[in-house]
Amino acid sequence: MEKPKVVLGVSGGIAAYKACELLRRLTESGHDVRVVPTEASLHFIGAATWSALSGHPVSTEVWNDVHEVPHVRIGQHADLVVVAPATADLLAKAAHGLADDLLTNTLLTARCPVVFAPAMHTEMWEHPATRENVATLRRRGAVVIEPAVGRLTGVDTGKGRLPEPAEIFEVCRRVLARGPVAPDLAGRHVVISAGGTREPLDPVRYLGNRSSGKQGYALARTAVARGARVTLIEANTGLPDPSGADIVRVGTATQLREAVVMAAADADVVVMAAAVADFRPAEYAAGKIKKKDGQEPAPIALVRNPDILAEVAGRRARPEQIVVGFAAETDNVLANGREKLRRKGCDLLVVNEVGERRTFGAEENEAVVLAADGAETPVPFGPKEALADTVWDLVSPRLA
Ligand code: CTP
Repeated sequence: MEKPKVVLGVSGGIAAYKACELLRRLTESGHDVRVVPTEASLHFIGAATWSALSGHPVSTEVWNDVHEVPHVRIGQHADLVVVAPATADLLAKAAHGLADDLLTNTLLTARCPVVFAPAMHTEMWEHPATRENVATLRRRGAVVIEPAVGRLTGVDTGKGRLPEPAEIFEVCRRVLARGPVAPDLAGRHVVISAGGTREPLDPVRYLGNRSSGKQGYALARTAVARGARVTLIEANTGLPDPSGADIVRVGTATQLREAVVMAAADADVVVMAAAVADFRPAEYAAGKIKKKDGQEPAPIALVRNPDILAEVAGRRARPEQIVVGFAAETDNVLANGREKLRRKGCDLLVVNEVGERRTFGAEENEAVVLAADGAETPVPFGPKEALADTVWDLVSPRLA
């Protein structure tokens, strides 16, 4: 079988060195990679490095090997183009269709999925010009992954770091696995809650649950690969950040509600995968609750937490917004699920049967997705990413 053809575009940012590791991962996992650097990027990593690591000649401009018409052929034959790092300048050129070197020509001729992994200083990423260029590229179907937050060049820290090569590689792998289809969530903003809330009793204790957050993270990773801008609101998961998503960290149901309501304001889709505590202690003890000799412990009074899913579904920040909930049921799964779907007012409800095979923190899941229009989609026992993709398969046509 022919190896999948990947074009690795490298533009002129200090993070270009991380693209060497991405290239290695791509070639070692059986991809035929052609590196197309920009002239500016050669200040950071020289052409010899790219040529030696990829096993292909390397050029920045269209005037080498003209008889092979490289400015057209490289893009035409690619199964995937990934630009890492993508500078503000490269994003601007791509958004405006400029073609003054081999990489920008390749971007114009490619008909395959294109992934941009931006890296730049926070000010440049936040500049309205860059925001609009990114929005334009996403609207046209490109996958633009959110930069990571952390140390930037020099002493600065903030948003703008190139995500780790292993994570960019994972995005590429998922995009390639979907084949030559347009990313169906491109230009969409999806908000996903994941994990389990903790309701504090005193400074050292809380009421919590055993949700691992893995299903929510699988939803975030698959949505990134399908082109969405992803806001992942995570509660106490301790999982590594998925590449390309904006992460908001919360602890309690009250904090989760605030974060979800705020992010939902401009969201196309809200998925409540988090396990939200239905109750919280009525009182928080500022000092540690101590046991007292010869005394029974005082009962813990609880109060209701807000139902975030019902609130978001009832309010609909945008009329066309799609709201997805999760539910765990032990018996009468479908009937209880249908009733819950109606009660919460969401469009889709992913119902897990809590059974013998179900363990918290597992890598697999099995579910039925119920839709408000009556559809029922069983999802067989399998990886959480497969269930996540089924959810997006059901969301995507409803967005249109
Ligand atoms: N949910 C929420 N806010 C809450 C409780 C739950 O948004 N205070 C959301 C969860 O994120 C999930 C769905 O509602 O999407 C689960 O509904 P819930 O009523 O808690 O169902 P179960 O967990 O199945 O529990 P029960 O059957 O006891 O109602």
